[in-house]
Amino acid sequence: MEIISLQTKHTTYQMGVTEHGFLVHLYYGKKVDCNMDYLMTAYDRGFSMNPYDAGDDRTVSADVLPLEYPCYGNGDFRTPAFNIKSSSGVLGCDLRFRSMSRSSGKYSIPGLPAVYAENAEAKTVEILLQDESAGVEVILKYGILTELDVITRSAVIKNTGKQPLFLEKAYSGNLDFLCGDYDVLHFYGRHGMERNCERHTVIHGIQSYGSRRGMSSHQHNPFVILAGRGTNEDDGSCYGVSLLYSGNFNCEVEKDQYQQIRFGIGIHSELFSYPLQPGNIFYTPEAACAYTSDGLGALSRIFHHLIRSHICRGIWQKIPRPVLINNWEATYLDFTGDKIVGIAEKAAALGVEMMVLDDGWFGDRDSDDRALGDWTVNEKKLGGTLQSLSKRIHDMGMKFGLWIEPEMINENSRLYREHPDWALVIPGRKPVRGRNQLVLDYSRREIVDYIFERISEVLDSAQIEYIKMDMNRGLSDLFSASLQYQNAGKTMHDYVLGVYHFLERLISRYPNLLIEGCAGGGGRFDAGMLYYTPQIWCSDDTDAIERIRIQHGTSFGYPISAVGSHVSAVPNEQTGRVTDIHTRAVVAMAGSFGYELDLNLLSKVEMEAIKKQIQDFKRYWHLIHNGDYYRLTTPGIDTEVAAWNFTAQDQSEALLNIVSLDTHCNSPVTYVKCKGLDGNAHYQLEGTSQLISGNALMEIGIPVPIVSGEYHAWQMHFIRL
Ligand code: DGJ
Repeated sequence: MEIISLQTKHTTYQMGVTEHGFLVHLYYGKKVDCNMDYLMTAYDRGFSMNPYDAGDDRTVSADVLPLEYPCYGNGDFRTPAFNIKSSSGVLGCDLRFRSMSRSSGKYSIPGLPAVYAENAEAKTVEILLQDESAGVEVILKYGILTELDVITRSAVIKNTGKQPLFLEKAYSGNLDFLCGDYDVLHFYGRHGMERNCERHTVIHGIQSYGSRRGMSSHQHNPFVILAGRGTNEDDGSCYGVSLLYSGNFNCEVEKDQYQQIRFGIGIHSELFSYPLQPGNIFYTPEAACAYTSDGLGALSRIFHHLIRSHICRGIWQKIPRPVLINNWEATYLDFTGDKIVGIAEKAAALGVEMMVLDDGWFGDRDSDDRALGDWTVNEKKLGGTLQSLSKRIHDMGMKFGLWIEPEMINENSRLYREHPDWALVIPGRKPVRGRNQLVLDYSRREIVDYIFERISEVLDSAQIEYIKMDMNRGLSDLFSASLQYQNAGKTMHDYVLGVYHFLERLISRYPNLLIEGCAGGGGRFDAGMLYYTPQIWCSDDTDAIERIRIQHGTSFGYPISAVGSHVSAVPNEQTGRVTDIHTRAVVAMAGSFGYELDLNLLSKVEMEAIKKQIQDFKRYWHLIHNGDYYRLTTPGIDTEVAAWNFTAQDQSEALLNIVSLDTHCNSPVTYVKCKGLDGNAHYQLEGTSQLISGNALMEIGIPVPIVSGEYHAWQMHFIRL
């Protein structure tokens, strides 16, 4: 069997080509230096059919082969990664291996986000699969980031026939496992409680997690883990797959009749049916895969590193981002320029570095049922131009940021009155509304370009260093006035390409602009968006205790630097819960830190606390954003405290964070164990003369003080001697 091996520092990914030309997946896991085709077996399996070219040999069947990019139509009846429909309605094809090539460097994908790397850091392998009679060619692309133990996958599909065809399914990648007992960890949620980690056994049949909402969604996240049954935070085999895509997606896990497992991810095939004209090419989004035998924590750290260094781009990728104050929870839409300046003045005195003006500065946007699409400054409300407001902020030594929601339109707007066909609306039907708004048809480049020009005019009119780009509803009413015929799947994918086009234009025209993604909080928190926006507002739920859970789930697939997190007022706007300002800050510091409250309403003591918090965040920033993150507890399982620590990559220091969750009479003492320290070294607890060995901190831990009341927080900085 011809063997194709991809090697990273600690992992091997191996494929083979069978005598009939099936590209089979032999192995992905801990590094091996042998051919893995000895794993293949062949039996005559009842009701698993045989390819014509196998003749009388009934032991050959696509239905049981571990296929690298399984397609429908060749006798494999498990869930495929690929399916096409011809113009006459014939479904399926039979993809066979044709050739393979290797090159140095990492491929990129036109119009789509992709992992990038220096030529010396990565290799690319391309494998050509073909079905001549169906008129289709598929190039499987593999990016190998050796040091990082990451393998990326994507596919390039070409219609080589003479008739149009429809892509019914075109996943980015697929992993077939011949054997093994696995659990899936996936991240479900809702608005205000995104990315809860749920772990369950892979059972017979198909389990799937995905979105049909046109956005990656609050409900499911395009990052999924397959873990060995006994795998925990610190030990055991696990595979993570992150899809760099911000629209409809699906991840399917299937256990078949012979206990084999199939794990595929890509654009959701429901509603898809993407037309491909003769000669045309379709690029799937990219899936980044990693394997480790060192447990879930190590897997997360691979993805943290990957996203920080090979997905996020621009000047803000690794440097400290300004500590900001956002006016949303302080004022909502009810503000004036003076009110904003008042908040900024207080903030500047405390050390806050940027004032962000949220929703409500444009058109007649005094309530959320109007003005989206009218990107002209409401000078009456601001009491002057945006430039004059921005100048007042800059005169205090602060940067200035602005909220936009460029993909949306209100029916009550000048733009809608002029261009009603620019919204996704089905002619003759009343559209589905979300937050009283409709979605602009970003599958049409002229609309994207129009909005881009309007937003650019605003950005050019004042000194603006930051943009919060929001998106507050999903896609429905999928009729695009630009198509000759309606095709929801095409419109939804082209919409995502339109959003990426908008963002790419924005970052190339304003390379110094810091962009924070947002979709009603964390409704589009995915690795695709992080290619354009190095941070994303994690959730509209700013309650510190709820945030512990949301940020814990988020941390499995995404680095702390990507998490927009703010200290807000108490009682919390969303939950009514009261927590101390220190606790709120400790939780918000596990992210790109800021404030979102009216500082005029705080006590002197709280103001002093904020001053110190900002100084602390800046002192610890290198650990928080570029250090290694360790989850020390699990919300829901560990009910006494939540804890996490950041460790410098050279283990020279660590920052331990603890929040108490419960309170009892005459309580036992809880001990929290650190992770990732140098076991043989001694660490000094900052502010004390206490020396503790790394092993002691990791093996026995630190006693959490017993204090009356709930939700106390501690931050402990350990420095290696
Ligand atoms: C939803 C966001 O998540 C909030 O932070 C805020 O920006 C509002 N939209 C503004 O409309």
